[in-house]
Amino acid sequence: MTRRFAVLIMVCAGFAFADSPGDHPIENIFRPLSTPAYEISDVSLLAVIICAVIFVVVAGLLAYVVVRYRRRPGDSDAEPPQVYGSNQIEAAWTVIPLLIVFVLIMVSARVIASVQNAKAPPNALHATVIGHQWWWEFRYPSLNIVTADELHVPLSDPADPQPTFLKLESADVAHSFWAPRLNGKTDVIPNRDNDMWLDPHEAGDFIGNCAEYCGTQHANMLLHVIVQPKADFEKWVAEQRLPAVDDPAVAADKQVFLSVSCVNCHTVRGTSATGGFGPDLTHLMSRKVLASGVISNTPENLRAWIEDPQAIKPGCLMPAMHLTGKELDSVVAYLRTLK
Ligand code: CUA
Repeated sequence: MTRRFAVLIMVCAGFAFADSPGDHPIENIFRPLSTPAYEISDVSLLAVIICAVIFVVVAGLLAYVVVRYRRRPGDSDAEPPQVYGSNQIEAAWTVIPLLIVFVLIMVSARVIASVQNAKAPPNALHATVIGHQWWWEFRYPSLNIVTADELHVPLSDPADPQPTFLKLESADVAHSFWAPRLNGKTDVIPNRDNDMWLDPHEAGDFIGNCAEYCGTQHANMLLHVIVQPKADFEKWVAEQRLPAVDDPAVAADKQVFLSVSCVNCHTVRGTSATGGFGPDLTHLMSRKVLASGVISNTPENLRAWIEDPQAIKPGCLMPAMHLTGKELDSVVAYLRTLK
């Protein structure tokens, strides 16, 4: 049990510090990139430094006393003189911890207020994050965009801030939205709107995770926050606002897609597929990942995913539709056109 606990601690530490492989910037809580994350990182560092100083003083005194007053051959067995009721010592070990706790409370309260009470400026982008078992839906109501698993936000120049304010909702159980380099964790709770904001100071693809156990595939509820310079972000917005591509070359494949049960759960804007239970597929091919980041969005993975989602993400709510090989080919061929 102890060993398992040690492994867990090492895994958690690795998650906090590790450089993730590939082209993803590092998911590291100590490398903040957005105002709320800077503030949280600073207050954490202060707490760690204060605790480290306390640890060194206490452990140092303890080590000194253990060595200095250890039992030696020839020591008498008599009890040493006992000291009771030193007002100075008692005052010191009451007042000093009180002051330390007071400082930590005041600094934490100031940071919490500054992170939570920020008001959205007029230029802020607003998006809604909806946690599902086990994927993320991202809606931009003012832009008429619905997407999944990859939250696109504009880069924010500290000299000319362009923050993004997120409203957090859940479709089922409690989740927690966490992009470590951009903000702290915020719970995503059914029937309650929470919010958070971020103003990323660097472009890139920042990985986050659901941080509240929400069922079998909790650990596979990855999210990407894709921070783009203003022009790239606006290009992405313009593309996402377009209706689904209607490529005549796959007209027959499209009919196959519309005739199978995919349409009960998924929407492809501009078609009769209007299901709202699963991710919006209108611009599926603009996304780099499938199944909430479990697999990358390649034709082979897409086919394997549709054929048997349970083999890739056991317990996920998408069932295998038992399509024939030909139907599978058609569905994949059609979905591949949804740029
Ligand atoms: Cu969603 Cu854990």
